[in-house]
Amino acid sequence: MKQVNHTNNILGYVLALKSQYQRESLIEAFARNNEKLSALASDIPFDSPKDCHYKRQVLGKEFNDNETYDENFEVIMGHWKPTKTSCRIHGHPQYMYYQILSGKYLMHLYKIIDTQQKIVEPVQSMIMLPGDTFGICAQSRTMCNGIHSMQCLEAGQTLHIYSDDALKGEIFTKK
Ligand SMILES: [Fe+2]
Repeated sequence: MKQVNHTNNILGYVLALKSQYQRESLIEAFARNNEKLSALASDIPFDSPKDCHYKRQVLGKEFNDNETYDENFEVIMGHWKPTKTSCRIHGHPQYMYYQILSGKYLMHLYKIIDTQQKIVEPVQSMIMLPGDTFGICAQSRTMCNGIHSMQCLEAGQTLHIYSDDALKGEIFTKK
């Protein structure tokens, strides 16, 4: 599956960093360049979600087989409306990078306490504001890394970069 729009400035910049760095160093490079990423993202207008709290805009993605795994990526712009509850607790591919562009969010992080039943318990909660970033690069190429849930407190946009199809992230239940 391939869908890349190289005319998009922010996608071009992400891919340029990706060509220079891998995995942990790539996540660090995204965080180090968060101001540049925010500036490029400001080209993309807020697209208010209609019948839900979150709209997922794919800026680019490429999913290959295992041999070319390091070429995989997905870049998403999230458009959020405030809600009273968090989204479902979910895991991510091997690496993930979140950056707040606008708005205000509450993020809950979890750890697995029962792998088979997919039960988690909370370990940390944090308010995230524009410029804040959150990234992980796990050892595991599963879809249960960086388990979290997000709640939007004030409308805005977020940038998400993943090493694979984030829609395959596993769903978990709180103890
Ligand atoms: Fe997530």
